[in-house]
Amino acid sequence: MSVKVIVGAQWGDEGKGKMIDLMSEKVDIVARYQGGANAGHTVVIKGKKYILHLIPSGILHSDAICVIGNGVVIDPVALFDEIALLEKQGIKIQGRLFISHRAHLIMPYHKMLDVAKESKEAGNKIGTTGRGIGPAYVDKVNRCGIRIVDLLDRPTFESKLRKNIAEKNEILKKIYKADEMDVEQVVSEYVEFDKKIAPYSKDISVLINDAVKAGKEILLEGAQGTLLDVDFGTYPFVTSSSPTSGGACSGIGIGPTCVDEVLGVIKAYTTRVGMGPFPTEIGDDEGNVDLRALGDEFGATTGRPRRCGWFDAVIANFSVRVNGLSAFALTKLDVLDTLEEIKVCVAYRYEGKDLTSFPCELRILENCKPVYETFPGWQQPTSEIRQFSDLPANAQNYIKAIENLTNTKVAIVSVGSGREQTILV
Ligand code: GDP
Ligand code: IMO
Ligand code: MG
Repeated sequence: MSVKVIVGAQWGDEGKGKMIDLMSEKVDIVARYQGGANAGHTVVIKGKKYILHLIPSGILHSDAICVIGNGVVIDPVALFDEIALLEKQGIKIQGRLFISHRAHLIMPYHKMLDVAKESKEAGNKIGTTGRGIGPAYVDKVNRCGIRIVDLLDRPTFESKLRKNIAEKNEILKKIYKADEMDVEQVVSEYVEFDKKIAPYSKDISVLINDAVKAGKEILLEGAQGTLLDVDFGTYPFVTSSSPTSGGACSGIGIGPTCVDEVLGVIKAYTTRVGMGPFPTEIGDDEGNVDLRALGDEFGATTGRPRRCGWFDAVIANFSVRVNGLSAFALTKLDVLDTLEEIKVCVAYRYEGKDLTSFPCELRILENCKPVYETFPGWQQPTSEIRQFSDLPANAQNYIKAIENLTNTKVAIVSVGSGREQTILV
């Protein structure tokens, strides 16, 4: 029996989807614990690409039960679109997907407020996905959110919805000078979701704790990444939930004593979508190394180009600490195959000092200069390699350097998007 948490160790898009799919083969339950349809988790099976937003990335293994925990915010429209798309591709969902009755809903006004706030921000945009994530978590914490359990009780749902829409319409009109919602239209559209969601609704805390007692194999799937965590990320340029491993317990309803292992998924370089500091970002003036083109770095949810930079060991160490990582899964090693030299940031230089502990001040993050160690590239293809010992010596040395700099083992190396393009170390 084991409970394993899988977290993104950077700014998201590390390849969590591939890792979760890979590990789901031997797992009974895969559970998402935070975030919403802002996630885009890619799984490639025999050349066919699936992008999961809300549904756990274990869904492509027909034996796995998939669960969405109370920590996730659920847009019913996005959920049923995703279910329909997967069913069209021949994947059975009914009887295999369960959703916490405590999970909060993303309503149309959350998406409208997300977009309206971003468009008003001019120079201070977060660069959100526009999926209503921040406003939905605001309502949850502000105790006016609507949960799945409310949706299943029409009178309660309708009265909460009407109250919220009245308030949000005032905000949309007066603060954002945006269009108001048609109350009757939203009510009539959303009350109908009760029948659709009922078969999926469950007490997930009971389901998972029973499974733990029965000795099942359980994977807890994080979305986003450590540096987007509302507490530990580059605040305010973060998401509104807790992707770090601590969020897994509160987002699913288990105690920390249940968790056996935490695997941090980390790219062999760094990317970020949206605004905010990024010390190792490769600027346009260093365009001779185009990681975006080499790694096909475009967002799986919004299609936005990802910002790209070198591997940052300061961030990796921070991730080891705040998540209690047991090991890393290192992805996209193959993207570096053609490079002559590869840089790794080992410290941030700021006002004459070298910082090795990730700072929380934006001022430092925005103005520090990365201190790099340079490693020779291997300039050989790696995507067909399946054994660590078959990797070129310089690639092995690069991975060992990452292990030494972080004092953490690399347990899995990924050399391509396909399930099979994986090296178990
Ligand atoms: P997630 O959000 O962490 O699940 O990651 P995304 O799916 O948003 O982005 C990762 C991208 O890299 C996807 O397009 C994957 O198919 C792809 N990918 C994952 N692992 C590898 C790898 O080892 N090599 C290459 N070249 N691509 C990979
Ligand atoms: P996965 O799970 C990368 C980023 C957005 C923005 C910030 C806040 O695929 O790794 P939000 O819509 O959450 O309020 O946006 O967080 N962001 C992600 N970046 N991968 C993700 O998910 C992300 N989800 C949100 O770009 O900067
Ligand atoms: Mg992604």
